[in-house]
This record gives sequence, C-alpha cells and structure tokens, in this order.
Amino acid sequence: MKVNGIPTRSIRSLDGGTAVEIVDQTSLPYHYETRVLNDWRDCVEAIANMRVRGAPLIGITGAWGVVLAAKEDPENAALLAAADAIANARPTAVNLSWAVHRMMGALLPREPSLRFEAAVKLAEAMTQEDVLTCRAIGEAGAPLIADLYQKLRRPVNILTHCNAGWLATVDYGTALAPIYAAFERGTPLHVWVDETRPRNQGLLTAWELAQHGVPHTIIADNAGGQLMQQGDVDLVIVGADRITRRGDVANKIGTYLKALAAHDNDVPFYVAAPSSTIDWKLTDGKRQIPIENRASSELLSVRGIDSTGRIAAVQIAPVEEAVANPAFDVTHNRFVTGLITERGVVAPTDLTSVFSDKLLPEGG
Ligand code: MRU
Repeated sequence: MKVNGIPTRSIRSLDGGTAVEIVDQTSLPYHYETRVLNDWRDCVEAIANMRVRGAPLIGITGAWGVVLAAKEDPENAALLAAADAIANARPTAVNLSWAVHRMMGALLPREPSLRFEAAVKLAEAMTQEDVLTCRAIGEAGAPLIADLYQKLRRPVNILTHCNAGWLATVDYGTALAPIYAAFERGTPLHVWVDETRPRNQGLLTAWELAQHGVPHTIIADNAGGQLMQQGDVDLVIVGADRITRRGDVANKIGTYLKALAAHDNDVPFYVAAPSSTIDWKLTDGKRQIPIENRASSELLSVRGIDSTGRIAAVQIAPVEEAVANPAFDVTHNRFVTGLITERGVVAPTDLTSVFSDKLLPEGG
C-alpha cells in the first residue's frame, strides 16, 4: 500500500541485505522517521526499545538480524550467540523465535562461507511472505464487516486495541487488514481506537487510519465496556502475539478485559493473526505463555511533543513509586468468536485441523 506519499512498508533491506531500514515507531505519531540498522545488535536494540514492534514485524526484524549476524561472522559460535540474543530480545511474541529458528534451520547445515547469501534470500522471502499473509488475512476478514453492514445498513463500528496495522507487520497489518480491505471496497465503517496505555500504540493506529482516510475515534482504554453496553460496538478485532493450539490468545495488556466486555454484551470478538503467531507447543495460554514485564518508566511518565515539535517525556508520578507493568494478557478461547487467519476465519478449537500441516507435537 502507499498513502500520502509514504510507502506503507515498515522495513526494507538496503545494499543487498548488508543493512536494514526501519520506520522508527518511537517517533510516531509525531514525526515519520526512518532508521538504518547496520548490525545485529542494532536489531536487538530496535526490538527491545520498540522502535519496531508488533509480533509479525519483530519476527521479520529478527530474521534480518540473523542476516546481519551472518554478514559479521558466519561461523557457528558467533552466529548461535547472536541468534540467541535476537530471539530473546522480547519474550511474548512467538513470531520472533519462530523467525530466528527458521533462519538458523536453513543456515546451520550450510558452509559458513555460503550463509550470508542464503540468509539474505530467506529473509527477503519471509518479508514478502508476511505481506501476502497479511493481505490474505484482510481478504478473509473483510466479509465479516461487509455482512454486518448488510444487516445493519449503517456504518459498522469496530473496536480495536493496540496497533495491529501495517506498522506492526511488513504491510497491511493483521487486525487492521480486514478494515482496510472492507474500507477500500466501500463498506461504511468507523473504528473505535483504544489509546492503549502505557505505550499508546492506539495513537499509531489512529495515525495509520488517518493516513488512509478511515473514520475513527480515539477512546480511553476503559471506555470500550461502556460503548458496548450502549450498543455502539458491532465487532471487536484485535491482533495477537502468541496463540496456543487450543486458541488461547496473548495480546496487548487490556485485550482480556475487552473480550470479557464483548462476551457480556454479545459483541463478536475476533483475533486476526498469521499462523506464525501460533505456538503449537503450548495449550493453556494463562499458564504457559510468558508475559513481558516492562520498565516502570513507561507508567511513571508520558511522552508527547513540546511547542517546538521536540518529543519529550513528562514525569507524572514520583520515580520511587512501586509499579507493575505487564505488557500482555491472555484471553481464553471461550471468549474468542473466531481467528482471522491467512487460511480464512477459523474457530479457535479448529486450529489444529486447519493447520495440521504445520502442527508440532504438544510440549515438543
Ligand atoms: O508491545 P507491542 O506494541 O509490540 O504489542 C503489539 C501487540 O500486542 C499487537 O496487537 C500484536 O503484536 C499484533 S501486531 C499485528
């Protein structure tokens, strides 16, 4: 996609894969800035500090991190150490370790001297695959919105949490892909955008939707339940960071409370994600999915721009306050109406049959 002169690619390789350019998401929604990563350590820093974020995109950034590691030193010891550091840059989204393992699985059987070239080819293929997968998610999910419009005959109100748009993938997004696809086909719709404290990824969603001209309204994280009670939400679509084989879903903190409110108000609750987000080794999400705890500074300050356009953080509570900052939560499959995947809309309990070719043994 391309809007307002900005190519909607969040990452691209430069100079034959010897460097990678990303959109630096810590500058958005205030400034659109790109940043060049020359070294695998830059990839780790970008993932950990959320210059790149969103499960599919951190996976692809991890793949390019392996490419840069193979450029620096393709011998086993160095490559394995770099891969380990990259895979552990953030713990919850399984796409990161999935991507690093896929890269290493292809590289390790080769001669070290052939690894860099092979790594560039595979990372390029995975990048392109992510684009096609997200487009397929959009195709699969758009009819859900169109069908609701046929029934309601007024703009469909969709609530989303965090940012699962093109910024969080290579292009199109996951939760936003069906919204973009339906909007492009003329289905009247409006998006309620959860602010998503503490990192305010909702502001990234609002920025994306504004670029595309999609009608939307930013709401405080706690507003969704009230809007659902008033009949102002027809559908919830969120992304995911890790989905277990029975369809439990880890996503940005606050997703679970939206799922509970949706359940109580008979609002369909859909999760859009590629199959690379499914962790076939896990069943019980609440017990088994690792939840990232992030720095207290994310809660004790807010970021914005001052009158000169400079991005600045303002402290809002004493730094010695005790803070808990879990970044994700888990929603049980019983609250998930369906998963919008590259293979269509799937009941959480049908994942293993629809993706039987990708299945790994439980616990294996
Ligand atoms: O902490 P973040 O911003 O990386 O969390 C992102 C999310 O929770 C997204 O909803 C999820 O990764 C899906 S992105 C297509």
